[in-house]
Amino acid sequence: MKTYTYNNNVELMKRAGKVIPCGVYGHLGPAEGCMIPTSAFPFFVSRAEGSLMWDVDGNRFIDYMCGYGPNVVGYCDPDVDAAAMEQMKKGNCTTLPSHIMVDFAELLTKTVKKDWAFFAKNGGDVTTFAIMIARYYTGKKKIIFVNGYYHGVAPWTQKPDSPGTLDTDCMHSLYVDFNDIEQLKKVIAENKDEIACFISTPYMHGNFIDNVLPAPGYWQEVRKLCTENNIVLICDDIRCGFRLSLEGSDNFYGFEADLICFCKAIANGYNISALCGKEFLKGAASSIMYTGSYWMSAVPFAAGIANINKLIANDAPAYFRKIGTMLTDGLAKIAKDRGVNLAISGEPALFYLAIRDDDSLLLHQEWIAECVKRGVFLTNHHNHFVNLSLTPELVNETLEICDEAMKIMVKNHPEVYR
Ligand SMILES: Cc1ncc(COP(=O)(O)O)c(C=O)c1O
Repeated sequence: MKTYTYNNNVELMKRAGKVIPCGVYGHLGPAEGCMIPTSAFPFFVSRAEGSLMWDVDGNRFIDYMCGYGPNVVGYCDPDVDAAAMEQMKKGNCTTLPSHIMVDFAELLTKTVKKDWAFFAKNGGDVTTFAIMIARYYTGKKKIIFVNGYYHGVAPWTQKPDSPGTLDTDCMHSLYVDFNDIEQLKKVIAENKDEIACFISTPYMHGNFIDNVLPAPGYWQEVRKLCTENNIVLICDDIRCGFRLSLEGSDNFYGFEADLICFCKAIANGYNISALCGKEFLKGAASSIMYTGSYWMSAVPFAAGIANINKLIANDAPAYFRKIGTMLTDGLAKIAKDRGVNLAISGEPALFYLAIRDDDSLLLHQEWIAECVKRGVFLTNHHNHFVNLSLTPELVNETLEICDEAMKIMVKNHPEVYR
């Protein structure tokens, strides 16, 4: 199997490094540690379609990062793009919002079973608004986080030692472990009448760790404790939203959040996020001045409507489970046959991979690198994503490449695989 070269990617990264901090900053770039060794990865895309992307050297990849989530029905989806282009002709960022904002709010609230929807641009906009609403409504300050969390990059989400963060930004932060009800009870008891909210993703899909699903009864107990203690329960569904269930991941796991945050898969890559909530918090949401220049742009609303309707029409979460399971079952078999301990965790729609045959991360990184160089785009320490355009044929092609890559990794390490 031929391996890829990245001359144009490297040249472009050199130019980028001169005029852009990090060259490519944040989660899409190599500085986050998910693209090691960097020599195995491309840095820039020239075009994308369905489940495929082509880099600036013309290399073709089956892409399992999906833009880190937004690609949910396929890159350049004809239905979503047609709806967006149609709206573009009628106006996008206008003085008054387009009437389709109401259509989208109605569709979204009906789909995710909440009473109201508030729109912004990024996930961090709506997690921040959720915290503000909880604090204003309860008149309390403290936030309970789950260790390993990621809720964006706003100061309140940071750790005291993060560059650019003040210790005062984190002075109301409390931390518990996922699935640990006793710890949660203890923290609530120790901070009686001071906790505004509990914020968590529906399951623990953190980076660098095997992902953890909720234990039976966990969410129901969290719900009960929040209700008893006047703590607003916030579900950060930015990554899982619309991939596990179209009704929101709180409904998927059998509980009801007071506020739920959506972004990534809401409009197949058009820039919009949403906070949806229960009626009793609508007054608080209405009282807070919170907005942005592009938050009511119409094109993403049109894309969002087309996208949600397409997800509904195709029963997308059932397909994600099916195609995700086909892939993860195939990977599990390959690993078993080659004597490799491959841990596969999380939900099949957002599976997480880690080779656990050594204490370092090197074997895993080497396998992923060999996959990427042959056209399967995975990253090392982040969950992956599937989308509606991913076919069984592409999954089979993926498995062939992953097997070849694993054969090479195993051969390179006789000290581990005797
Ligand atoms: C669970 C979760 N919350 C919040 C965010 C922040 O979203 P954004 O980067 O759009 O601000 C992300 C982004 O990856 C996320 O995965």
